[in-house]
Amino acid sequence: MFGGVISLAMFAALPVQASAGLRDLASTKNLRFGCAVEVRPLMLEAEYQSAVASECGALTPANALKFDAVHPESNIYDFSGGDSILNFARQHGQELRGHTLVWHQALPRWVSRSVKTRDQAVAVLRDHIMNVAGHYRGEVYAWDVVNEAVNDEGTGLRSSLWRNTIGPEYIALAFQWAHEADSNAKLCYNDYGAEGMNQKSDAIYALVKDLKDKNIPIHCVGLQMHLSQEEALDYPAIAQNMQRLAALGVEVHVTELDVRIQKPFTDQKRHLQAEIYSRVLSLCLQQPSCTTFNLWGITDKYSWVSRTFKKWGEALILDRNFVPKPAYYSLQTGLQ
Ligand code: G3I
Repeated sequence: MFGGVISLAMFAALPVQASAGLRDLASTKNLRFGCAVEVRPLMLEAEYQSAVASECGALTPANALKFDAVHPESNIYDFSGGDSILNFARQHGQELRGHTLVWHQALPRWVSRSVKTRDQAVAVLRDHIMNVAGHYRGEVYAWDVVNEAVNDEGTGLRSSLWRNTIGPEYIALAFQWAHEADSNAKLCYNDYGAEGMNQKSDAIYALVKDLKDKNIPIHCVGLQMHLSQEEALDYPAIAQNMQRLAALGVEVHVTELDVRIQKPFTDQKRHLQAEIYSRVLSLCLQQPSCTTFNLWGITDKYSWVSRTFKKWGEALILDRNFVPKPAYYSLQTGLQ
């Protein structure tokens, strides 16, 4: 401005305020809105980068920080994928979620080949957690420390290499090691099929209560929320489950929300999908303990659903061409 005159040229130079993305709307509600991301398109695909940057306030590496990706050999750690996502997050003011330190899946062959005794299992798992959580110390807002440890029937812990070699205490040990490696990160237990009130969510509630009673550092429970459009959801039961977890003194994170649609894909199903996204968001907004609302991706172009379920797809909020779907607008409305 010269002598109080603002030349038109200056207006032209001013950055046009981009329309607020879902991340911005969510932050006005003190809600973290994030999405899972894949390394390759995040590094190489402009449309994907743009959608992730504008809509997601937090990033979860869908695969880059799993055991098989980050610790491919006993003496080799490969942080390249996780670091690429961390760098993108830093450039775009986004938070990073660690996923996942201990899981029965995504284990490289060397682990099952070399882990036979309890001592070997403790040594391998501790080394893994200390190195991976240590590498990202201070950089992640939360870790999914243990993923899917409770069996689907809710009758106990699923059989897994860690459970079978170390014993049930592997869970408490994992949380203690993760806290030792990064005392800043919120440490979560993450699972699926336990959103409402059922035997599995009862078992998870009991597990979390036991860890809290023993002063094990656990701060959050992740409800994955891999939903299907035609499955009737008991919303009051989900609210009740969120409330009872909050009463234990932990945060509730929606960690992997997607709502798959059964073929043939129709507009009517897409609108019913939007209704589900909207109602799950309302549940989270109504629970003070629900601080995080993450989708398992952003675009149907990169979704595990169509790779996994042949008759299902279109589970996310942008279509394969990054065009917002009714579900996108239902979240936008719910956040405004
Ligand atoms: O990247 C390789 C590629 O180089 C190779 O050619 C191809 C051939 O099989 O495999 C590719 O890796 C695949 C990876 O996804 C990336 O697409 C793995 O085989 C495949 O097993 C892996 O599946 C992932 C799955 O977890 C198992 O780790 C899905 O992408 C991922 O969306 C899914 O996510 C899980 C969460 O971590 C936990 N909650 C459930 C959720 C859905 O299963």
